[in-house]
Amino acid sequence: MTGKVTVVGSANVDIVTRVARIPAPGETVTADSLEVYPGGKGLNQAVAARRAGADTQLVAAIGNDAHGKIIIDVVAGEQMNPTRLRREEGPTGTAFVTIDAAGENNIVIVPGANGTLRRLAEDERELIRASGVLVCQLEVPDSVVEDAVSTAWEAGTAVVLNPTPVRAVPAAILAAVDVLIVNEHEAEQLHASDLPVPCVITTLGADGVKLDIRGESSVRIDARKTISIDSTGAGDTFVGFFAAAIAAGADYETAARRASVAGSLSVEEQGAVPSIPTKQAVDDALRLERVENQ
Ligand code: RIB
Ligand code: NA
Repeated sequence: MTGKVTVVGSANVDIVTRVARIPAPGETVTADSLEVYPGGKGLNQAVAARRAGADTQLVAAIGNDAHGKIIIDVVAGEQMNPTRLRREEGPTGTAFVTIDAAGENNIVIVPGANGTLRRLAEDERELIRASGVLVCQLEVPDSVVEDAVSTAWEAGTAVVLNPTPVRAVPAAILAAVDVLIVNEHEAEQLHASDLPVPCVITTLGADGVKLDIRGESSVRIDARKTISIDSTGAGDTFVGFFAAAIAAGADYETAARRASVAGSLSVEEQGAVPSIPTKQAVDDALRLERVENQ
């Protein structure tokens, strides 16, 4: 397996407000702050795989606007190829994120350019064929996810799918998935434990991670203790670090342990992309954990 990772997915700009309490329907609350961060599940997962040390490329679409420039700068800053990003008419994807005092969030997405990513171009398929791992989520149309996973399947590239925002996953997509990464809510909605997928990983927040290998083992990994200030992008950090680890040859359990620590570090910082830790930070946290457990 090559160490390369290709992520096909969304890129957003996150408009983030902090509130004491998320408003109920019909209610108005006053925010404590307004922040603007790069995000989007595709971009977050690509940055995470990159910071985990994998040679990573992102296939995504941005609009012809100032927000698109934010995405280009992040991609370039992480030494991923920004010219690979598609530029479309209209707005870049936008996410309106509201975070409460406990660090929990609510998100409204405006797909913008992400909605135009319907099919891959041949050079984009070539990237997948040359990668050890393909990573997809569902913030882009099903048709492009299907195109990407079937390309991976034919080339023997491993497929990691994070089916979020959750919706029914077409059978043609599921058939090509090697590892499905879901949170508790998605696991329940998709009946993940009944799906014909070789490995299902369920992230359980403060309760850690559950790893089910079909017909074999079920492993529970405890979470590192954290004080959460912003959980936006924690799942994406997990997915990116997991993909990078298996691309480098790690087994699923080892990869999930690293990914779990990476996700836990990300909740301690604000923003999606800005909070994704480096490989070094994850190594240090793992070392500390080992010392504490002795
Ligand atoms: O998973 C977190 C991401 O979801 C945010 O960065 C936001 O853009 C939404 O896509
Ligand atoms: Na965060």
